[in-house]
Amino acid sequence: MNYMVFYVETGKKLKSASTPEDETGRQYHISIKPGEIPRYVLLPGDPGRVPIIASFWDEHRKLSEHREYLTYVGTYKGVRIAATSTGIGGPAAAIAIEELLRVGANTFIRVGTTGALRKEIRVGDVIISTGAVRYDGTSKIYVDPEYPAVASYEVVLALIGAAEELGVRYHVGLTASSDSFYIGQGRPGYKGYLPRRWATIHKDLAEVNVLNFEMEAATLFTLSNIYGARAGAVCAVIANRVTEEFVAGAGVEDAVKVGNEAVRILAEWDEELSKIGKKYVTPQLIARLARK
Ligand code: URA
Repeated sequence: MNYMVFYVETGKKLKSASTPEDETGRQYHISIKPGEIPRYVLLPGDPGRVPIIASFWDEHRKLSEHREYLTYVGTYKGVRIAATSTGIGGPAAAIAIEELLRVGANTFIRVGTTGALRKEIRVGDVIISTGAVRYDGTSKIYVDPEYPAVASYEVVLALIGAAEELGVRYHVGLTASSDSFYIGQGRPGYKGYLPRRWATIHKDLAEVNVLNFEMEAATLFTLSNIYGARAGAVCAVIANRVTEEFVAGAGVEDAVKVGNEAVRILAEWDEELSKIGKKYVTPQLIARLARK
């Protein structure tokens, strides 16, 4: 029968408890093996966003689906691209990142949703993160809290370029990533429970010029720096914590378009860099490409 393997089958013996992959290298959680995906991978939290991302590609197909990890592969403006959902929060995202690196990915762009901490950032805008405050737990298991969670400069630049090209309203700056949507972001828990130390966290972060709260960027940036991969994040503003507005899905299509277009830009830079044998994107490289 001609069917696709969407998961490592129940009962299948994997390599070992420390290396949960099958004999082909297919990873236990994401159910992908080396060679099946390209280097550029968009990372939404929500599996439902994967087909939305892929709907803007030249062509796409579903590659794998297991638990919260849904992956589509395809081509966007001639560039091989993939999108894998990470689920919510650092622990789930770290699994996706670990396994995607093992099968060949090296450039990640989170395409998420977020709550803005400043009044002037409107619901429906997008935020491009330059770094993330590490209010997650997962990255602290990997490395000391002093280690910075910074995005890759060329991914940030490609995201800004994409937002400019597309005429999307965008903001650039620091993000805070929390493992907790309610208490950890200063929202009352069930029956109004809110420990005093968390009650003003969103206001305190705004005072030190943090733009937004979301739940995965810090883990993504920390792991990517540790492993020498590249990462960035663009998030749609669905909530504003000052005005108290919340609109489900606001700005998501714009964030998706910016993420896709940033991959095209990065691929153009990467191709040129490999032609001229250089490593870093520079203003000179960008100017040269513009003249072509
Ligand atoms: N995601 C978050 O983590 N926080 C918000 O306020 C909105 C989306």
